[in-house]
Amino acid sequence: MQTAVKIIAFANQKGGVGKTTSAVTLAHALAARGKRALLVDLDPQGHVALALGLPRQPSLYRLVVESAPLSEVAVRARPNLEIIAGDKSTEQVKRAVTLSDFRESILADLLRRSPYDVVLLDLAPSLDVLHINGLTAADFVVIPTRLDALAIDGVQELLKTMAEVARRGHAFLGYAVLPTFFERTTRETFLQIQAVGKAFGRRVWPPIPQDTRVREAPALGKTLLEYHPDCTAMRGYPENGRRVGGYWQALDRLEEVLHA
Ligand SMILES: Nc1ncnc2c1ncn2[C@@H]1O[C@H](COP(=O)(O)OP(=O)(O)O)[C@@H](O)[C@H]1O
Ligand SMILES: [Mg+2]
Repeated sequence: MQTAVKIIAFANQKGGVGKTTSAVTLAHALAARGKRALLVDLDPQGHVALALGLPRQPSLYRLVVESAPLSEVAVRARPNLEIIAGDKSTEQVKRAVTLSDFRESILADLLRRSPYDVVLLDLAPSLDVLHINGLTAADFVVIPTRLDALAIDGVQELLKTMAEVARRGHAFLGYAVLPTFFERTTRETFLQIQAVGKAFGRRVWPPIPQDTRVREAPALGKTLLEYHPDCTAMRGYPENGRRVGGYWQALDRLEEVLHA
């Protein structure tokens, strides 16, 4: 018997906060641990494919607008990891979805019965019909956020949108706040992580350190697991002989969500 797929959205209405990086890194890590994973690019920038060393493609367009079967449009990116790539045609997907009768749940309907253990959705920052589709499909939402003065505000904006989606009948399992670009030595980061912790409590996952390796990897078409699995962004920063944060810890948290 097939157990139900869990769908995880990476969302923040701000750009440049680490949504794509987190979705790609964690998708590859889950796949490497044996989960059958699908990563869907909902952003017309199409960075998911590029980050994995693949060309941009209109896969989302073919799936949603041309009704091509998921098995036909999904591209194998790594062992156990397939992607629905995006490109500029994703803009047209928005238009087509807006005209449809079931405009908010099209993605949910397409993905709910897919043959994967986990589906990860990389959402665009724009608050449009595709963003709403992504949230409506999601069981759980990871909200990557930079630790700047507007961090809490950005998370709250997204929570308002989630509340609206929930009001229309969708049940979320929960959400997590994932602090990114963490710099242990700057005072602003330090104050902000405390403020975020105070605002969202146990929903805050350990932070992802800022690390130049993160920027280098996608330029080579490699994930962080391939490029530098031991870098600070993966392993966390050292503190009192331990390592704190990083994508390996985020992976453990995500696996807890998947097994809950
Ligand atoms: N922890 C990090 N340290 C350094 N650079 C990062 C980190 N996370 C992301 N980046 C870089 O910042 C830019 C924006 O990240 P990205 O994941 O594309 O954000 P988003 O998808 O939210 O727009 C990219 O160039 C990415 O490589
Ligand atoms: Mg992105």
